[in-house]
Amino acid sequence: MLQRPRRNRKSVVIRDMIQEVHLKPANLILPLFIIEGQNQKTEVSSMPGTYRHSIDNLLREVESCMKLGLYSFDLFPNIEDSLKDKYATVSYQKGNLYLRAIEEVKKNFPEACVVTDVAMDPYSSDGHDGIVENGAILNDETLEVLGKMALAHAEAGADIIAPSDMMDGRIGYIREVLDANGFTNVSLMSYTAKYASAFYGPFRDALNSAPKAGDKKTYQMNPTNSREALIEAQLDVEEGADFLMVKPGLPYLDVIKLLHDNFDLPIAAYNVSGEYAMLKAAIRNGWLDEERSIMETLLSFRRAGATAILTYHAKEVLEKGWLK
Ligand code: PBG
Repeated sequence: MLQRPRRNRKSVVIRDMIQEVHLKPANLILPLFIIEGQNQKTEVSSMPGTYRHSIDNLLREVESCMKLGLYSFDLFPNIEDSLKDKYATVSYQKGNLYLRAIEEVKKNFPEACVVTDVAMDPYSSDGHDGIVENGAILNDETLEVLGKMALAHAEAGADIIAPSDMMDGRIGYIREVLDANGFTNVSLMSYTAKYASAFYGPFRDALNSAPKAGDKKTYQMNPTNSREALIEAQLDVEEGADFLMVKPGLPYLDVIKLLHDNFDLPIAAYNVSGEYAMLKAAIRNGWLDEERSIMETLLSFRRAGATAILTYHAKEVLEKGWLK
């Protein structure tokens, strides 16, 4: 045998020498759930170790993350049912929970990178990402709401706006609204290939945002399709996106790789709530090793081609010193 690949695995030094991808704190974005109130920190039952924070507590959480070297945060609001309506009106209302949270984080920590989520579902009485009429999700009417929401986020200080709704044309529409209002410097991280996935369940528990009727299959993509992701990515590039995201992460590593190989924009992977819940459940049962299973998961996103990783594990990997 002339070729013996095991020679390159024979010692720690050589294994480290040839390691192809690495994970650093700057690759990580921590999603954070926010809720009205004072000194609130309630655990999401299906996501052990993940909490809904009131704004005062959110600030403490952000501060402790930044001490660990984690600077990027993606915020998601839990909105009381009484504030929801068909048109998600509260989503762009001055002084709402979400806008206050963005403002407070940026005021206290200007160097933090705040990613905001643009979609109607946390505010929609229908629990959908678009306006519902006779069971159908209206596309172009929804864009107007998304534009108002994005503008409000930019005014509150968002660094990156991440539209997660999968309406057609939203990136171009939002880009125009932002530019027309002087926010040419606010970035857009598009949920380019967001699949109609079973893995969002725990997130919908966290926000109480599940659809009241029907499902999201007329706007989120069919899990069987990867060629369609190329169409979505092409449109996002043309419409002015700064990042292309694939969501969920683990079941769609091939799609991350596909976009990475075909487009030059940075790729983000969303390691979603259900993926987090699966690992935590197995770890709690003693069925998987915590550090190894989480690090292997996160490194697989880097190998597939993602540079930004949205993950509920972001703080713990730093806290536990796994990146040292
Ligand atoms: C909705 C949205 C969802 C997630 C992020 N934004 C859920 C959905 O589409 O129903 C899921 C995130 C996760 O599961 O961690 N706009």
